[in-house]
Amino acid sequence: AANAQFAAGGAIAAAPAAQEAATLTVLYASQTGNAKGVASKIKAAAESRGLAVQLQDIASYKTNALAKEKFLIIVASTYGEGEPPESAVSFYKFLFGKKAPKLPELQFAVLGLGDTSYEFFCKTATDFDSQLAALGAKRLHEPALLDVDYGDGAKNWQEAALDVFAPLLKASGAGSEKVIAWPGATGTAGSHSQYDKQNPATAELSVNQKITARNSTKDVRHIEISLEGTGLTYQPGDALGVYFRNAPELVASVLAATGLTGSEQVELSGKTLTLQAALTDELELTQAYPSLVTKYAEVSNNAELQALGANKDALRAYLADKQSADVIVQNPANISAQQLVDSLRKVQPRLYSIASSQAEVGEEVHLTVGVVRYDAFGSTHLGGASGFLAERLAEGEAVKVFVEHNDNFRLPNHDTPVLMIGPGTGIAPFRAFLQERDNAGATGQNWLFFGNPHFTRDFLYQVELQDYLKRGVLTHLDVAFSRDQAQKVYVQDKLTAKGAEVWSWLQQGAHLYICGDGNRMAKDVHQALLHIAQTHGGLSAEAADEYFEELRANKRYQKDVY
Ligand code: 2AM
Repeated sequence: AANAQFAAGGAIAAAPAAQEAATLTVLYASQTGNAKGVASKIKAAAESRGLAVQLQDIASYKTNALAKEKFLIIVASTYGEGEPPESAVSFYKFLFGKKAPKLPELQFAVLGLGDTSYEFFCKTATDFDSQLAALGAKRLHEPALLDVDYGDGAKNWQEAALDVFAPLLKASGAGSEKVIAWPGATGTAGSHSQYDKQNPATAELSVNQKITARNSTKDVRHIEISLEGTGLTYQPGDALGVYFRNAPELVASVLAATGLTGSEQVELSGKTLTLQAALTDELELTQAYPSLVTKYAEVSNNAELQALGANKDALRAYLADKQSADVIVQNPANISAQQLVDSLRKVQPRLYSIASSQAEVGEEVHLTVGVVRYDAFGSTHLGGASGFLAERLAEGEAVKVFVEHNDNFRLPNHDTPVLMIGPGTGIAPFRAFLQERDNAGATGQNWLFFGNPHFTRDFLYQVELQDYLKRGVLTHLDVAFSRDQAQKVYVQDKLTAKGAEVWSWLQQGAHLYICGDGNRMAKDVHQALLHIAQTHGGLSAEAADEYFEELRANKRYQKDVY
């Protein structure tokens, strides 16, 4: 129809055609905000070509709109072992489910973001791509499958894909000046502040306090950062992105292994700087990743590493306990400073779930940071950001941060009950939730499940939580100290034991939240929930599954897992 009007009305003059102009829908499936960032750039680039664009979080996309869609770009991250980000699970299940529609009208392209350190690299994107094609949609451009340092790759793909989309969109009615003012085009994202991942704010560490006991197996820090002067704001459920400097000893060990001094000049992303500065501030020396092995093997002419690089399983095993610096330190070679820089990828900021509410703390942001620390290959290995915050940054010193908003982890209105499951550092966003609800005088009931190894060593925020309990802000507090008895007890065991009451909360409309380990804990908790729906709700296995899918689709079941 749009096509016909375009032809009949003589292009731009046909104002009513704007209503039917073809729109490019750009969906993002983001876990930590990267896919959202890329999708926003695609939207801006498409708009600058005069196209009408609808940018949307895949979490809130109405799946019944898909069959009517004509032009679609999906930007999808992959999380953990090849899983879709939490925000995309409903859409993913829909697309692969029995009710998936045929899509003969749809023309699409998919951009994937992933991490080559993981086995199922970019699986969500390749799944979307192949399934859309299987449903009859037409692939307009090959999918991009991009690693952590996706910047240039994303930009190149964006331009190449838009070269294909733009003429087709214009031919089907979009592209007039009128269309630029399409209501959807001004976007949902809304700018929150001038600071983001590319342009972080300079904040200041004000508190670094160990909140696990001396004899604990864990080192967890309560971190407070002052946001004064930055204008940064956040909501409970948001995360803080933290940039860090690598440890001087780590930088020194890499220099020693490559026979370099650090004063060499190198080029990085169009800047000239010293090797010392590049290794300290710009390059990834902690997290290990496969491309380092292949690149370093080549410049150092290391046959053994080259062989490893060609064998995925051996490579994974090789990298298991390593930080990236280990790969270099254990394979000394005389290479040039520039070769070293080109072997390493750019450092990525680490995201932490925010543990405070601004209603309580004003211009501060609190984090609950588990320090990554382990001995391997004769030295103590420290996590990049956690080591920086815990050991290298003095109180009063500057730290570069940005707020990563997360609309998929939000409190409901004040009178709705909430069930929060947050073992370990997964407690963080729930401390924010409780502060928020306490300050707002929210009437909804709050139930927290917390777990950690030992009551006496690892009860994070014990005094605060018990105070919330005493004051009635917390209705219930159930704790699972896994190693305080012979048999392990986990949060899901506590949940199961209280199954009848949990079911009744859900029946009363409670919202359900899980934060923490996504590999095992969140999955085991999900199983416990399915079991509760069967035993206390009388649902079949299939109905229980649908019940929680429904909750998820209605944003009553939200996860922040890592
Ligand atoms: P563990 O280390 O004693 O096994 C926070 O890390 C808490 O989560 C710890 O008490 C830890 O117990 C526990 N935990 C480990 N695996 C878990 C799982 N699959 N489900 C829930 N909790 C788990």
